[in-house]
Amino acid sequence: MTPSASRYPAVYAAWKADPLAFWDQVARDIEWSRPYDKVFDPYGGQYGRWFVGGESNTAWNCLDRHVRDGNGDRMALIHDSPVTKSQRWLTYRELTTEVATLAAVLLEMGINKGERVVIYMPMVPEALIAMLACARIGAVHSVVFGGFAATELATRLDDCRPVAILAASCGIEGTRIVEYKPLLDRAIELATCKPHSVLLLQRPQAQATMVDGRDHDWSRRIAEAKARNLTADCVPVAATDPLYILYTSGTTGQPKGVVRDTGGHMVALKWTMANHYGIQPGEVFWAASDVGWVVGHSYIVYAPLLAGATTLMFEGKPVGTPDAGVFWRIIAEHKVVALFTAPTAFRAIKKEDPTGEFIPKYDLSNFRTLFLAGERADPETIKWAEAKLNVPVIDHWWQTETGWPICGNPVGLGILPVKHGSPTVPMPGYDLRVLDERGMPVAAGIPGTLAVKLPLPPGALPTLWGNDARFRKSYVEEFPGYYSTSDAGFIDQDGYVFVMARTDDVINVAGHRLSTGQMEEVIAQHKDVAECAVIGVADDLKGQNAAGMVVLNNGVNRPAAEIEAEIVKLVRDVIGPVAAFKTVMIVKRLPKTRSGKILRATVRQIADGEAWKMPATIDDPAVLVELTEALKSKGLATNAKAPVD
Ligand code: COA
Ligand code: AMP
Repeated sequence: MTPSASRYPAVYAAWKADPLAFWDQVARDIEWSRPYDKVFDPYGGQYGRWFVGGESNTAWNCLDRHVRDGNGDRMALIHDSPVTKSQRWLTYRELTTEVATLAAVLLEMGINKGERVVIYMPMVPEALIAMLACARIGAVHSVVFGGFAATELATRLDDCRPVAILAASCGIEGTRIVEYKPLLDRAIELATCKPHSVLLLQRPQAQATMVDGRDHDWSRRIAEAKARNLTADCVPVAATDPLYILYTSGTTGQPKGVVRDTGGHMVALKWTMANHYGIQPGEVFWAASDVGWVVGHSYIVYAPLLAGATTLMFEGKPVGTPDAGVFWRIIAEHKVVALFTAPTAFRAIKKEDPTGEFIPKYDLSNFRTLFLAGERADPETIKWAEAKLNVPVIDHWWQTETGWPICGNPVGLGILPVKHGSPTVPMPGYDLRVLDERGMPVAAGIPGTLAVKLPLPPGALPTLWGNDARFRKSYVEEFPGYYSTSDAGFIDQDGYVFVMARTDDVINVAGHRLSTGQMEEVIAQHKDVAECAVIGVADDLKGQNAAGMVVLNNGVNRPAAEIEAEIVKLVRDVIGPVAAFKTVMIVKRLPKTRSGKILRATVRQIADGEAWKMPATIDDPAVLVELTEALKSKGLATNAKAPVD
C-alpha cells in the first residue's frame, strides 16, 4: 500500500493517546442544555457511561438548532416513493413544525418522558417524524420492521412494554400491499402488555378498521392540533437516558433490545457524517435502507439531520420499482452526493442490468461516494460498482449494537487506499483486536474473533433493555475486558481488517440479520417435527439464505412436500416474510457428534462447496452422504466436495 495523505493515522493516534480529550472535543459539536460533569464515568453501567451529568435533546440538535441558526429553509427531508408515484419535500422549518405538532399530540395522548412507544411503519415521512417526536418529549421509541409478523411484534411489545403504538395502515412491497393493521391488532391480542393507544396513519392504498377508544386517526389529530397551533417544546433528557430500543436477532427466539443512549449517540453520529462519510451541511445523503434497521435509525434519520444535511428517504426497491435504473434516477434527480446501501442491492441491480445500461441515462455528476455495509461486500460486486460508477466504493463494518462504523474508510479525513474484501481500518473509539479461543491477541493475518477493547465508544450500546445479565453474557463475559463482536476475521500487516463470518447462529440474508436458532425454535413447534437444524447457505443474490433440515416423528407418513410447505408457511407466519425461509428438506437423521451436537458448520461447508474435514467426533459419517443428497435435491451443494484428510 502506498502511504496516503489521509489525516486518519493522526486522528486515530490522537484518540488512542487520550480518548477522553478526543471525545470531549467532539462533544462540543452538540448543544447541551446542561454540560456533562464527566466525559466518561468508568464505574457507571456495564462498562462505564458517557457524558454523565449532561442533558440535551436529540430533536433539538437535529432540527430546532438549524432553524435558529438561519437554516430553516434548507431541505431536511426528500421522500421519493416510486411505489406510490409520489415525492415530498420538507425544509428544516417544516419538519420542525411537523415534529413539534406530533409531539404535542403524543403528550395529549398521555405519553410521558421515559415511556416507550412502538413505531410500526413503512418508509413514509411520518415514520421519521414519529421517531423525532418521541425524542422531542423524551419518550423512548422502538421501531419494528414491517416485514416481521404479528408474533414478533408481540414479543417486542412484551419486552419493552410500550404505552402507545404509532402505525400506518399498510406498507407497499413492489406491487403488493401489506396491510399492517391486522398484524398490529393480532400482535396486541397476543401480547400480555397492551398499549393504551394507537395512532394510525391511514394510507390511501388500504383503509384500516379502527378500534373504538384505543385507536386515533393520525391525520385528524394532526389537523386538530395545527388548528389550535399546538406544538411541544424539546424536553431536556440525561445524556445517559435511552433515545431508543432497537431489537436485533440473537441466538435464540428472544430478540435483543439494543439500547441507544441520548448523548453518546449524537456525539458519535455527528462525527461520522463529516469524518467518515465526508458530508457537509446542505448536501444530500441517501441511506437506501429501512427505518426498521439500525442503518435507517442512524443514517436515514439521526446523523444526516444532526449534520444539517438533507436526508433522502426511499420507498421502493433497487429493482422492479420500476427498473434497475431507479437508484441512478434518484441520485440524478435529487443531486445525491453519497449513497449508502447493502451489497445485496447492488447484486440485485447487477443481475438485472449486468452491463450497467441504465447508468449513462442519468447525470451522476454530483455523486461522489458509494458506501456499502450490512453484510460482507464481495469483491466482485465492489469491482462492478467501481467500474460502472467511477466513484470510490467504501465497504464499512458495523452492527446494530455499535450504531456506527467499527471499521471504515474515512472519506472526510482523506480516503485510504481501498483493499477489496476489507472494510479498511478501525474508527477512533474502537481498539480492535483479534483474539484466539483463550482470549489472547493473535498476530497479523491470523484469524480469530474480532473484539473491541472496553470501553465501547460513545453511541454503542450501554446494555440490553431490561437485561444487564444478557448483555454481559452475550458480549463481555467470553473475553474479559473486551466486547465480542461475534464476527470472525483478521487484521493484515497494514492494519486492514477483514470480516469473514459470524461465530454464532446469526445469518445475514439480503442484508437482514436473522437467527437460525430462532427459526429452529419455530420449526420445532410443528406437530410432526422431532428435531431440526437450520443453516445459512451461500446465495449469489442475498449473500445467504436459510435452509432447514427436519427429522419427522416416527409414524408420520404424509407426503414430504405437504409437510415442507407447512413448515415454510409456519416460519413466514411466526417470524415474517423477512425470514425469506423457502428451503426445507426432510431427512432421516441429522449429522451429530457422539455427544449429540449437530454438525451445522460441516453441513454448511458441504452446501457451499467449501473444503471440509470429516469431524473426528462424528457419530456416523454415512449421515453426511445422505444429507448431501438431500441438499442436492433442493438445488444446493451442487459443488459439494469430498472430505479432505
Ligand atoms: N414489509 C413487508 N414485507 C417485507 C418488507 C417490509 N418492509 N421487506 C421485505 N419484505 C418481504 C419481501 O416482500 C419478501 O416477500 P416475498 O417472500 O413474498 O417475496 C420477503 O420479505 C423477503 O424480502 P427480501 O429478502 O428483502 O427479498 P426481496 O426479493 O423482496 O428483495 C432485495 C431483495 C435485494 C432487492 C432487497 O432485500 C434489498 O433491496 N436489500 C438491500 C437493502 C436493504 O434492505 N438492506 C438492509 C439493511 S442495510
Ligand atoms: P446488523 O446488526 O443487522 O447491522 O448486522 C451486523 C452484522 O452484519 C455484523 O455482525 C456482520 O456479521 C455483518 N456485517 C455488517 N457489515 C459488514 C461488512 N461490511 N462486512 C462483513 N460483515 C458485515
